Amino acid sequence: MNIFLTGATGLVGGELLVTLSKRPEVDQIYCLIRSQTHEEAMERLEKVFDLHEDEFDRSRIIPVLGNLFDDDLTGSLISNTALNNIDVVVHSAANTSFSRVNDDLVEKANIGGLTKILLWAKQLPHLQTFLYIGTATICGKDVKDRIVHEDESPNLEATHLVKYTYTKMKGELLIREHLPEDKILIARPSIIMGDSRNVVPRSPVILWAMATINHLRLIPVNEYAQLDIIPVDYAARAIVGLLFAPNRHYHVYHVSSGEEGATTANKLSKTLSAYFDEMPPFNFINKSMLNQVKHWAKNRLAPDSELYGYREYLDYWKDTFQDKSKLRVLFSGLDPYLEFMELGHVFDNARLLEDVDIENSIPADIYINNSMQFVEKLDILEGAIDP
Ligand SMILES: NC(=O)c1ccc[n+]([C@@H]2O[C@H](COP(=O)([O-])OP(=O)(O)OC[C@H]3O[C@@H](n4cnc5c(N)ncnc54)[C@H](OP(=O)(O)O)[C@@H]3O)[C@@H](O)[C@H]2O)c1
Repeated sequence: MNIFLTGATGLVGGELLVTLSKRPEVDQIYCLIRSQTHEEAMERLEKVFDLHEDEFDRSRIIPVLGNLFDDDLTGSLISNTALNNIDVVVHSAANTSFSRVNDDLVEKANIGGLTKILLWAKQLPHLQTFLYIGTATICGKDVKDRIVHEDESPNLEATHLVKYTYTKMKGELLIREHLPEDKILIARPSIIMGDSRNVVPRSPVILWAMATINHLRLIPVNEYAQLDIIPVDYAARAIVGLLFAPNRHYHVYHVSSGEEGATTANKLSKTLSAYFDEMPPFNFINKSMLNQVKHWAKNRLAPDSELYGYREYLDYWKDTFQDKSKLRVLFSGLDPYLEFMELGHVFDNARLLEDVDIENSIPADIYINNSMQFVEKLDILEGAIDP
């Protein structure tokens, strides 16, 4: 089996690349890489394997230079005759930014880029499966505090917290316009954070949010809202398991913790408190107080604000951050994460457990114990600038 993979240098795509490379059924994996030269692309791929000391077989892992923004991407893939033998396309590349500043780029990558890949993939003579890495969060923000099932999305009526989830929802509709159902496989991971193994995490992105929450200690979010979080190693095992499942009953699967593997901010805070035991205790306050926190950081807090009831935390912030602008940067980076945390989504994983030989994922408050030394070292201010 020959595979074409996009997003191989990212969190999910990197782990998928390594996991796929270990499957005996896989011959070659062609990876779309945005690099100037073949050598540079090869180096980037080598790093993906080096991170956890996995074997990098140069004869099987082949870079294809390209960018989802290239106007002629479809044409250049079609004219690359080495790709005529592709059986499976795995599309993991995306712009995952939650920041409004990047909305146009998010749309260009996740809709425009996907269209270019689809126009090429649909003319492949041997295409068996187009595996799209979607996201469970396409259900939008109207769904709250309950279990979400695969068939509820894509729903054009859903309202979205960020452009990213909207474009991922539209992406699923696009795939259905271009390919017959029997070639489509959609894996929708929930929130991917860190790794359940005792290894260097492939990406700090969601770990950054946890590390920031750990530093702040006074958090405007519902501590009991369910959080569906999985580690990237589980996500990759589940997705590759789906690809090779002998009997798939569906075209769309959540790759998620489900009810059994879900966690909460409260449970995560207990794990964090046990490791970082010299910091103030966690205190979760109503989400509506986020604006007061932001006003305090701008020296504009009304004198009768409820937030003054938490003076020991305000003093702790003053001591820790000195400069209030740092706090403003942290809270603006954290804002969309707090919005997602408040939704209380749990994504049903019955389909995955039915069709793939895989166990439930370990709850994040347990597996994250393996990553505490990395959480400790994360530079939260640097992460906040482009979370
Ligand atoms: N992380 C999560 O929690 C999560 C949860 C649910 C679903 N997902 C889905 O999983 C997929 C991968 O996400 P991720 O977390 O792995 O993201 P990531 O770490 O940001 O990686 C994104 C990948 O896409 C590539 N890419 C971005 N823009 C590109 C462009 N214009 N042309 C070519 N390649 C481009 C990046 O290449 P460069 O290295 O060159 O930048 C990188 O390899 C996405 O489809 C996302 O929707 C992620």
